Amino acid sequence: MYKDFFHLREYPFNTTPDPQFLYFSRQHRVALDLLQYGIRARKGFIVITGEIGTGKTTLCRALLNTLDAGTRTALILNPMLSDAQILRVICDEFRLQPARTTKKDLYDTLNAFLLRELAANHNVALIVDEAQNLKPRVLEQIRLLSNLETEKEKLLQIIFVGQPELRALLNRPDLRQLRQRIALHHHIGPLEPDEIGAYIHHRLRVAGEPGRLQWSADAIQLIAQHTHGLPRVINILCDAVLLAAYVAETYHIEPSLVELAIRECGLTPLAPAELPAA
Ligand SMILES: Nc1ncnc2c1ncn2[C@@H]1O[C@H](COP(=O)(O)OP(=O)(O)OP(=O)(O)O)[C@@H](O)[C@H]1O
Ligand SMILES: [Mg+2]
Repeated sequence: MYKDFFHLREYPFNTTPDPQFLYFSRQHRVALDLLQYGIRARKGFIVITGEIGTGKTTLCRALLNTLDAGTRTALILNPMLSDAQILRVICDEFRLQPARTTKKDLYDTLNAFLLRELAANHNVALIVDEAQNLKPRVLEQIRLLSNLETEKEKLLQIIFVGQPELRALLNRPDLRQLRQRIALHHHIGPLEPDEIGAYIHHRLRVAGEPGRLQWSADAIQLIAQHTHGLPRVINILCDAVLLAAYVAETYHIEPSLVELAIRECGLTPLAPAELPAA
């Protein structure tokens, strides 16, 4: 709707996890570096946690785009699976077709695949998004896969990505064997106040905005205050801001427009208990 008015190639503030829009905040840079390092150095288990809407799924997709052909990956986006199903889904993701599908067959097939990839000097990574939803039995099943190793290195790098509840889940006493194996952990907090303007401008640039839009510092500050640096909320608000600017036929984003958009989106400041942990 407002795309033509602002001369945009695409909508800049969609809430889909499109990795081409990824802005490297300090937190996202560290998380991506850590994932790349963990896979390359075959560190075994890696955990990435983050508040809702902080870019975890976007980061997983960006990671896949950065890995070279020498890395085999499986990305599981919906982990609401049973322990019997998870091995099958992992085999499917690696395009393996075991002759039979008993647990043992699936496990043996994966093991043979991992040894083949090791011989070819390939890295293999399993990425599980929304891992806070994994049932403890499924986590245990995945832990068993981490036993596939040589004397020197892990054959499979396992990356769990999830909301803060994942930390609590991994702290369960019955999962301590798994917890002990976690080599790297990073928590993605919200964007820092000084990153919010850069984030907004980055997404606009990727969407092809030719530089006509002018955002006042006060407008950005108001966005920061009402979104607490949560990227998904920033996107929802900025989309409404652009719509309001389109209706007002202006390229100048002032606090009054942001206030209008805040009301349109029904955004209310979060209660202290709801504030994201940094
Ligand atoms: N660093 C970033 N750069 C650009 N866009 C981002 C960034 N972080 C998040 N976003 C955008 O915010 C929105 C929400 O991101 P995403 O779905 O990846 O979050 P999430 O952490 O996986 O959320 P959930 O906890 O609900 O699974 C998406 O539109 C995404 O593109
Ligand atoms: Mg997600």
